[in-house]
Amino acid sequence: MQPGPILFLDSGVGGLSILSAVATRLPDAPLVYCADSAGFPYGIKGEAEVSARVAGLLGRLAERIRPSLVVIACNTASTIALGYVRPVLDVPVVGTVPAIKPAAEQSETHVIGVLGTEATVRQPYVADLSSRFASGCRVLKHGAPSLVQAAEAKLRGEAVDPAVYSQALDGLLAQAGGDRLDMVVLACTHFPLVEDELRRAAPRPLRFIHGADGIARRAAHLLQGVRWDSPKPEGRAIFTGGVQGLDALRPALQGFGLTRLEGL
Ligand code: DGL
Repeated sequence: MQPGPILFLDSGVGGLSILSAVATRLPDAPLVYCADSAGFPYGIKGEAEVSARVAGLLGRLAERIRPSLVVIACNTASTIALGYVRPVLDVPVVGTVPAIKPAAEQSETHVIGVLGTEATVRQPYVADLSSRFASGCRVLKHGAPSLVQAAEAKLRGEAVDPAVYSQALDGLLAQAGGDRLDMVVLACTHFPLVEDELRRAAPRPLRFIHGADGIARRAAHLLQGVRWDSPKPEGRAIFTGGVQGLDALRPALQGFGLTRLEGL
């Protein structure tokens, strides 16, 4: 049997930051990207709604696409639903969770910030990562839904008010201990897409870290020995809300190798 593609799921375009790292490491692997645009954004939804959507959608997609690997390219979905999804899918599932461990290892001041969606930063999963891997650090958290919108707008080629970036960083820097913070975990897959803007908006040099390379290494490990068909099929982007109104996004999607757009 032909090996199936790698299937990525996010609420919107954020997971492209993960897809790009995986595509660099596995250039021959066919890729299918699903944006749950009908359910966007996840970060302001409740846990029950996110896990029901993600589990239901991945079940449908896995049956239809028969992937070799599923990557939940979304911190919100992963920290909420990974535990529900893994046992019910018969393919390996890689999740995206905040890079708290490497941030704690690399912090010189022992104050790190976790910038994610509101849903992610309140998850027990994140508290657990902090107590297991960053017990020697002060971990500041901030939910920044406006950065999700900023990343979506950037990829559609729209202008974004730079105040959005400084306000998001202020959410961390203004907290007690924020004056010593040196590392910022980009705990939402949308945020690496605006990392340059965040760096420019920072009032002093900060280091930003996220998990995309680690996920790409994990995907390559799980898929070692797989021989992909040649030629590589066109990259597919599936939008649960349909393809209407996506014209502005097409060039960015093409830049990530996703040339075939479909609705679900
Ligand atoms: N990209 C997603 C994440 O990593 C969520 C964005 C949203 O839908 O709020 O958390």
